[in-house]
Amino acid sequence: MNPHAVEYPARLRDAFGTRTVTGLHRLADNPLFGDAALTELLDRMPRERLYAFSTGTDPERVEDNRLAVHVGVSGAQLLQAVRRGRLWLNATRVDLADPRYRDLIRELYVELAAQIPGFVPESSQGTLLISSPRALVYYHADGPASVLWHVRGRKRVWVYPALHAGYMQRELLEDIFAGVRHEYLPYARDYDDGAQIFDLAPGQWIAWPQNAPHRVTNLDGVNVSLSTEYFTAASRRRFQIYVANRFLRTRLGLSGLSAREDGAMAVAKTLLQRSARRLGLNPLSFRQHAPVLRVAADAPAGVLPLTAGDAGAAHD
Ligand SMILES: [Fe+2]
Repeated sequence: MNPHAVEYPARLRDAFGTRTVTGLHRLADNPLFGDAALTELLDRMPRERLYAFSTGTDPERVEDNRLAVHVGVSGAQLLQAVRRGRLWLNATRVDLADPRYRDLIRELYVELAAQIPGFVPESSQGTLLISSPRALVYYHADGPASVLWHVRGRKRVWVYPALHAGYMQRELLEDIFAGVRHEYLPYARDYDDGAQIFDLAPGQWIAWPQNAPHRVTNLDGVNVSLSTEYFTAASRRRFQIYVANRFLRTRLGLSGLSAREDGAMAVAKTLLQRSARRLGLNPLSFRQHAPVLRVAADAPAGVLPLTAGDAGAAHD
């Protein structure tokens, strides 16, 4: 009853969620991550849930991270562009696109939770990451808690302290939870002094504390990873508190609010924010990246500049 051979390190029994943990799995043998399955998924999934970025080489230059449209580009061509360029494909919500990925993600959490006392994921979802050798993911933090299952290629991951003002201002996390800002965060090289560095090979998973800032550099090979997000009672509470604090800060001018996730004040803030949203008092405008490139499998970098005449230029 452990088909994916998920292994949690027993000596870190109590560390899940509070420290960065790595363990093992057997997804590298799973045909869902082979080129044939990936091609089929990319051809079939709703393209508005697929994001392609061409990345730079310097983690301090997030402006080199450029969104590329992929209208009319087949799954096979997308993979070819990944092999050639320095691209990062985020196939979001693969659990909705194909029940095989949905079931797989659920099974992974069943195997993981069986080895972690008190870990009760209520729901899960996943994004498949397909990326070029040497592509980057710039310094950022994600709202939901997650586990990254690494399947193909090699990558280096830097993980920075979670909920630490020296690495991310609390207001930025409020904005991330509220969905009003890109996840990318201000970054300087000297942050690396406080980072933990992990080199991931196929067959390893990694989980850092929820909201810990991180960045990634691919080493060799086309990289394929499954990023799975999970939701627990605790992770939902954190989401509600940060969104409520943002509401109170931006609408009522209250600053320096507690980020405590339990207690009567936490409940009161959450209820207030929910009522405000229902009454339309907390409208949130969602920011989108603007595409400046298009994926072109035959181009040396796998992308070309987007011009006004390109089909899909107005896509986003
Ligand atoms: Fe991330």
